Amino acid sequence: AEDGYDLWLRYKPIESAAQRQSRSFATQIAGQTETPTLRAAAAELSRGLAGMLGTAPTVSGSVTSDGAVLLGTPTSSSEIAALKLGLDRVGDEGYVLRSTTVNGRRATVVAARSDVGVLYGAFHLLRLFQTRASLDNLDVVESPRVQFRILNHWDNLDGTVERGYSGASLWDWHKLPDYLDPRYTDYARANASLGINATVLTNVNANATALTAPYLDKAAALAGVLRPYGIRVFLTARFSAPIEIGGLKTADPLDPAVAAWWKTKVAEIYRHIPDFGGFLVKANSEGQPGPQDYGRSHADGANMLADALAPHRGVVMWRAFVYSHEEPDDRAKQAYSEFVPLDGKFRDNVLLQVKNGAIDFQPREPFHPLFGAMPKTPLMMEFQITKEYLGFATHLVYLAPMYRETLDADTWRKGKGSTVEKVVDGSLHGYRRTGIAGVANIGADRNWSGSHFDQANWYAFGRLAWNPSLSSEAIAEEWTRMTFSNEPAVVEPVVQMMLRSREAAVDYMTPLGLHHLMGRGHHYGPGPWVEGGPRADWTSVYYHRADARGIGFDRTATGSNAIAQYAPEVAAEFGDLKRCPEKFLLWFHHVPWDYRVQSRRTLWDELVVTYTRGVQSVGDMRKTWSTLTPYVDSGRHAQVAAFLTIQEKEAQWWRDASIAYFKTFSKRPLPKGFAEPA
Ligand code: GCU
Repeated sequence: AEDGYDLWLRYKPIESAAQRQSRSFATQIAGQTETPTLRAAAAELSRGLAGMLGTAPTVSGSVTSDGAVLLGTPTSSSEIAALKLGLDRVGDEGYVLRSTTVNGRRATVVAARSDVGVLYGAFHLLRLFQTRASLDNLDVVESPRVQFRILNHWDNLDGTVERGYSGASLWDWHKLPDYLDPRYTDYARANASLGINATVLTNVNANATALTAPYLDKAAALAGVLRPYGIRVFLTARFSAPIEIGGLKTADPLDPAVAAWWKTKVAEIYRHIPDFGGFLVKANSEGQPGPQDYGRSHADGANMLADALAPHRGVVMWRAFVYSHEEPDDRAKQAYSEFVPLDGKFRDNVLLQVKNGAIDFQPREPFHPLFGAMPKTPLMMEFQITKEYLGFATHLVYLAPMYRETLDADTWRKGKGSTVEKVVDGSLHGYRRTGIAGVANIGADRNWSGSHFDQANWYAFGRLAWNPSLSSEAIAEEWTRMTFSNEPAVVEPVVQMMLRSREAAVDYMTPLGLHHLMGRGHHYGPGPWVEGGPRADWTSVYYHRADARGIGFDRTATGSNAIAQYAPEVAAEFGDLKRCPEKFLLWFHHVPWDYRVQSRRTLWDELVVTYTRGVQSVGDMRKTWSTLTPYVDSGRHAQVAAFLTIQEKEAQWWRDASIAYFKTFSKRPLPKGFAEPA
């Protein structure tokens, strides 16, 4: 039975009518494939084409038949070297797909300057077969817009995964380094198919044990599996490691003994993993150790590690997700306040990794004010793929529209059109290093991501990291075709479901700019009533501030003034009740219950209408999915159907709980025709 293990690399037979046509483009795989990466490319092509065409193409060193696929680099193939492909247009990881004639035979060329470019090109060609795209007259030139396209696994050494909803960690530390689960190779294939080129194996809430010799052996074994697929391994560095595993009394970054310890440790890591990528660091946030413990700055801490990594060409990804032990007046402001003064103070090989929004992966957040505000420091994007605040693995929420919303946001830092996308791809400020990180949703579950549709979020993350201009719809369509079916009767409704799903979740969880109303700790299900506890900003009432007058967090000049962290044009828009986009209304304003929103309804009525609409949208998704029984294998169909039923029930729960609770403040009736909360 179909269980989702094959992800979007299913390679099911092409319908017989189209098969003959497709076969004429893949009679032969030609080229010298003697390196591990070229071997992987050829193996993937063989496997994919055999699956889709029913017969495996023959393999040959050079093109001898019409309809050959010729793959390689100018170094690996004299036939490619002889063609004018304009390979200087693609960078180290790019590729060209070209329909041409080689040795008088019709051929499709997959060429690149590097082996990994060829591998990426092979996956692209397979995708064309998989999505039934035209294979005629190909002239594709692709290269990634972002340098580090990296997954962040929040995986612990004991096999648990922080905020992971797909079973245990994929990394079986216990059996590593001697047993290499074949699954690691499939993980590498899936990532390479998207162009993901790096992975952080360990949790940001780091354990120094990961940096000890036995664990470096294990990480090196994983790196060995991932290397042919162009994936470099990173680890998280616990800032206090010199104390915990080094026997030092301090981890003060300005202490020469500490710096020397890290230099030695880093050299040791590179002896294990010669192409080690570097460190991801969470410091002085949520109780994690860091340079501020010694009165030093984030720059002091990051630079000390950067100096240890520089001789080996490694980098530091230093996270901007900081919030301190002390209660702030507005948690949304802390990262900007701490980091903007440090712009220009970081070493060349430091990137600052910034979450898409200033709070924490909410269903909807305005873009983080750091984007655009640090022209001299490369800022990386951190998206969350795992759905910590979005219904875990049971709720169907396609995240590309959320990623797009942030990438499309205009920071106005260099005038109109200074989008977050241009910050992240480096073009706005001329960053020399660029990156997009995604907190992985991958675990040991048979279907990898906890649900079939959550695979689409891994997919969308990877595609956007490669090309941050892609549309949510184009990505959804590719994925649906590869994962479920090319039948228009499936593609259209599934893509529509996916595109509406994120807005549905926002509607039933946190409409109109509300945020952080989930149950405390687990973040699953409604908890707008949560108050008290260890600190104010761990409660929901801190964020919604409902009272007899109205609801919402005043972040304008009369409140926390967080809007002042945006460019004046953006601040003017967000700060003006009339101009503020309604989706962010209660993020920035405390608004009276009877305030008239754009629909001319009162705010209270609009809230009720929106919560209710969210539930209805899930009902619509469930109905749409039920019509697809004839087209989707029963195993996957049944699980998605069951999860949609759960989601509908829980959307209703969110709606009813939220309305019942907020009604205790608004003291207003529900608009006519709307059911009282159950
Ligand atoms: C969230 C999440 C934590 C995580 C943190 C982080 O707060 O709930 O589990 O450690 O983000 O990004 O560091």
